[in-house]
Amino acid sequence: MDDLKVKYLGQIGEAGDEATLEAIRLAAVGKKGEVSLKMRELGKMTPEERQVAGPALNALKNEITSALAAKKAALADAALDARLATEWLDVTLPARTRRVGSIHPISQVTEEVTAIFADMGFAVAEGPQIETDWYNFDALNIPGHHPARAEMDTFYTHRAEGDARPPHVLRTHTSPVQIRTMEKTGAPIRIICPGRVYRADYDQTHTPMFHQVEGLALGKDISMANLKWVLEEFFTAFFGTEVKTRFRASHFPFTEPSAEVDIQCSWEGGTVKVGEGDDWLEVLGSGMVHPKVLEAGGIDPQEYQGFAFGIGIDRLAMLKYGIPDLRAFFDSDLRWLRHYGFASLDQPTLHGGLNR
Ligand code: PHE
Repeated sequence: MDDLKVKYLGQIGEAGDEATLEAIRLAAVGKKGEVSLKMRELGKMTPEERQVAGPALNALKNEITSALAAKKAALADAALDARLATEWLDVTLPARTRRVGSIHPISQVTEEVTAIFADMGFAVAEGPQIETDWYNFDALNIPGHHPARAEMDTFYTHRAEGDARPPHVLRTHTSPVQIRTMEKTGAPIRIICPGRVYRADYDQTHTPMFHQVEGLALGKDISMANLKWVLEEFFTAFFGTEVKTRFRASHFPFTEPSAEVDIQCSWEGGTVKVGEGDDWLEVLGSGMVHPKVLEAGGIDPQEYQGFAFGIGIDRLAMLKYGIPDLRAFFDSDLRWLRHYGFASLDQPTLHGGLNR
């Protein structure tokens, strides 16, 4: 037994990997291992011999088993140490910097406009940017021969030769969403529709794609006075200061009467300030929805009436955040975006006062 003990404890001490340890285990205490075979011989012994040999063999078996376990743990520790030595990580190194994106001023202003009108009970409606000419023109009382069609510098989609359908257009304004909403929900209605619109035009204050927000309120007794209140309320909240408005008689085929609305501003040293001075700046078109437009939307003009308006979102953004050139909005110049963009955790919000 002493020989066995010396032999196996020696082998275990020298073993360099788990496979070797397993071989030793089988040879010593496996089913046919040397120690196990010895234990089987116990049956042939006299009770006196067995009393001595039994506990001794058990002790030997236990000693070998725990030596195996200890060696196994030691090997695992050594392997881990070796791995840690090669794979170590310096957690004190500074992190790699990642540039964070910013919120585009158009997105920011759209959110602000939406928040202010939502606070006055307006829901948001949307429509497609590629429209049929019916929704974009006819339903809005702009028939085929009407000069407004030509004035809008419309982009028409291509039609294959022989395709006689009227062309689709890139919507020239958000007004078609008025019709779509009338069809969908009927009156009463209180919605705004922010979105992209398209006209073939390009200079410092015009880009072929720009943004509008349409407003539409229909009810049994909605009047021009309500329009004026809503717009003044809006501008005051948006610019964070009392803003005087000026309604000028105008003409749109889809409203009667129609008004263009200017806001009070001053020009000093080439920069415009809203809410002070005695200059005026045009920011939107509006009016009472034309009876023909209500009919096109399936609403009885004898029963319902209301106002509509269309504001240029880009213009609002330029005014509020002092951005001089409209074209730069859509150049995707990172320097511009970082300068005029908003940190996503530091956006002006309605509950935070809207002005930074
Ligand atoms: N759709 C008009 C435009 O794009 C604006 C407008 C909307 C005017 C609603 C009156 C009523 O110029």
